[in-house]
Amino acid sequence: MIISPSVLSLDFTKINEQTNALNESKAEWLHFDVMDGHFVPNLTFGPDILKAFRKLSPLFLDVHIMVSDPLFFSDVFIDAGAEMITYHYEVCKDVEECLRIAHHIHERGVKAGISIKPNTDVQVLKEIVGEFDLVLVMSVEPGFGGQSFMMSAIDKIKALKQIIVENNYSTLIQVDGGINQDTANLCKEAGVDVLVAGSYVFKNDIEKAVASLC
Ligand code: DX5
Ligand code: ZN
Repeated sequence: MIISPSVLSLDFTKINEQTNALNESKAEWLHFDVMDGHFVPNLTFGPDILKAFRKLSPLFLDVHIMVSDPLFFSDVFIDAGAEMITYHYEVCKDVEECLRIAHHIHERGVKAGISIKPNTDVQVLKEIVGEFDLVLVMSVEPGFGGQSFMMSAIDKIKALKQIIVENNYSTLIQVDGGINQDTANLCKEAGVDVLVAGSYVFKNDIEKAVASLC
């Protein structure tokens, strides 16, 4: 299980101490929630924050862009050091546009992920899953940390796992929102590969909380 702590919940007055704890923990990835105040009603990080983390941590930089213009922001965050860009299916005009963005990200040598919000049917991804390195199933409405896990994510994860296994794809399944030890276990059983966790990690002892999710 890959753990990707969401730095949205990090205490920025303790950035060195908490980033060092993440570096010492079993986390392999760091999750950045980029919000543009348009696709979601919240505003978070720009590229300079990502550049700062690049200097502070050797972990894989997993960047989730909750933005209305994924093509523009993928370049901005790739230039800043992103190793994975995950954007939202809901902002793409059509499937062709969705795939063009993935192609662009891949051409720049970075992994591409596609995310669906809680009200988006997982079957919309059926024909395109294999084009992505990762599918992110949102288990809360994107925009804020600290919300409760929506159980509807479990069936989506199971359906995706079936598509991936049947077609022998190497696409990873990630889940984001309301992850703690209990919901992590449910996701594991359903076939998740990457767990994003924000408040659970940073409200507890960071290293122990990460270890409890592995
Ligand atoms: C929500 C973000 C999540 C969030 C998860 O829009 O995508 O990554 O930080 O936070 P928790 O784990 O607190 O639900
Ligand atoms: Zn996220």
